[in-house]
Amino acid sequence: MSDTMITAARAILAQNDRGTYTVPTQGLYPFQWNWDSCLSAIGFGHFDEARAWTEIETLFAHQWDDGMVPHIIFHEFDDGYFPGPDVWRTGRAVPTTGITQPAVAGFAVRRLFERARDSDMARSRARALLPRIAAWHDWFFRCRDPRGTGLVAIIHPWESGRDNSVDWDAALDRVPTEGVEPFTRRDTQHANPAHRPTDDQYNRFIWLVQHFRDLGWDNAKLHDASPFRVVDPGFNAILIRACADLAWLAETLDMPEIAARSRAQADKGIAAMETLWSDAHGQYLCFDRAIDAMVPSQSIGGLLATFAAIPQSRASAIAQRIATLGEKLPYLVPSHDPSAPEYDGKRYWRGPIWLIVNYMIADGLAAAGQTAVVERIVSDSLRLIDRGGFAEYYDPMTGEGCGGGSFTWTAAMVIEFLTGERQPA
Ligand code: DGY
Repeated sequence: MSDTMITAARAILAQNDRGTYTVPTQGLYPFQWNWDSCLSAIGFGHFDEARAWTEIETLFAHQWDDGMVPHIIFHEFDDGYFPGPDVWRTGRAVPTTGITQPAVAGFAVRRLFERARDSDMARSRARALLPRIAAWHDWFFRCRDPRGTGLVAIIHPWESGRDNSVDWDAALDRVPTEGVEPFTRRDTQHANPAHRPTDDQYNRFIWLVQHFRDLGWDNAKLHDASPFRVVDPGFNAILIRACADLAWLAETLDMPEIAARSRAQADKGIAAMETLWSDAHGQYLCFDRAIDAMVPSQSIGGLLATFAAIPQSRASAIAQRIATLGEKLPYLVPSHDPSAPEYDGKRYWRGPIWLIVNYMIADGLAAAGQTAVVERIVSDSLRLIDRGGFAEYYDPMTGEGCGGGSFTWTAAMVIEFLTGERQPA
């Protein structure tokens, strides 16, 4: 069975391959997305190492001068997606958006490097990428943590990758909608509207884009000028893990300055993560920096924190919480607590399961020695493929595939689950 699944997964990667980058899926997402690409590269790494490195290099070829790596690179014209370059207007030769996405590149590069069959190629390609990834991490701490707390804020829900999470509801309600230019959504022409964010959320998403555009995409200004500033434990855990992985790579490749800086960023971040822990909820929570308040929303962002080297006691509390969720649900891990009134098992990040998040949680919990729950997550992930195909996300109750189909990073994660060894962080 696993051979057939791997063959099917590889066919999806091939179908979405555009030569030097992959699209997440045809139609719904016709460009290069930042964290999709880095996680998909890990899948390519199992059968075409050179192609895997190219995926990440293409992304970093579009890094901004200030260090930011955009969330979408609009390589080719396609009017089947909204909002396109005419809305973002970032003024780049190859258009990009003006916001970023979860910083998985450092992690992905370490994984490719450690598994390399061609170690000379891996050394030279990793060496070239390291200063660029380090510049991106420096950008995060400079521009999204201007007071030096050790944790960064997202300034747009799209930056988190968890666009319509319940975590953002209250903060997004404070984002105005006056002055939003008329638009036609394209996502709902490709996917079931009941699986996608609402029109009200889209209005607020676009208001933020217009606001940042009016500020000239000047990252020295955007953090403080944004009415939406949320510290997401999952987003920070990914960045902290990437800093730790970059430190390891830089030590291995004899790049001592990057090693020291990255290690310091990771250590400071891990210590600061404690401020997001909630005993009452048994998980980490978001912090709304615009109003200085915790966000009492039990989403997967607080469970994804296991991807960083959090204290053992926190990892076991999270494993316990996931095991308890598993008593109520046939499939793990839901993106929101199913007992919450806002839970919606088919609507994007308000309940559905995402295989990339399952992968990162499983990786972190494996490093913490939580084998039983890891086995359950991995086997549920593969059962979901059987039940719902290579979908964008899945209903945790029925296993139905939702959103887009033939999804690149879902396919990459399947290859990982079936052939990649889980390694200590
Ligand atoms: C979308 O268009 O749905 C994306 O999630 C934004 O990155």
